[in-house]
Amino acid sequence: MTSYNAIGLDQQKAGELAQKLNKLLANYALFYQNTRGYHWNIKGDKFFELHLKFEELYNDLFLKIDEVAERILTLGHSPNHNFSSYMKETEIGESIQVTEGPKAVADILNAFKIIIKLQRELLLLSEAAGDEGTNSLMSNYISAQEKSVWMYSAFLGK
Ligand SMILES: [Fe+2]
Repeated sequence: MTSYNAIGLDQQKAGELAQKLNKLLANYALFYQNTRGYHWNIKGDKFFELHLKFEELYNDLFLKIDEVAERILTLGHSPNHNFSSYMKETEIGESIQVTEGPKAVADILNAFKIIIKLQRELLLLSEAAGDEGTNSLMSNYISAQEKSVWMYSAFLGK
């Protein structure tokens, strides 16, 4: 017999969603911390432009980290908050001492690719569970991030 959580979702499906959202959270945590590094360490003639752009990006990632964690709680599960679990779950690696703009932007594009792909996988799960809350969160993230991918790609002349 199916059991339901506090918001009326199938317990098992909510558990699968929470697990995948924790994987997304780990990737956001690495993406966030990497972007702090780009903001701090960037050098060169695009310094002022990129230093500000990366600040805008990490502020956005900071908000999303909180939203994803609180969605996991809303589903009745616990968000991971320790770096050791993030390191186990993340596909985005640590980027260390990146000082060149094009390298930072290429890393950011790679991180977006990983994040957007995970969010699309989450859309399949949330749709199957009838979880409109997670569904709309993911689809809002995806459409805005796809536009960011276009702009960061244009910066690289691609
Ligand atoms: Fe700063």
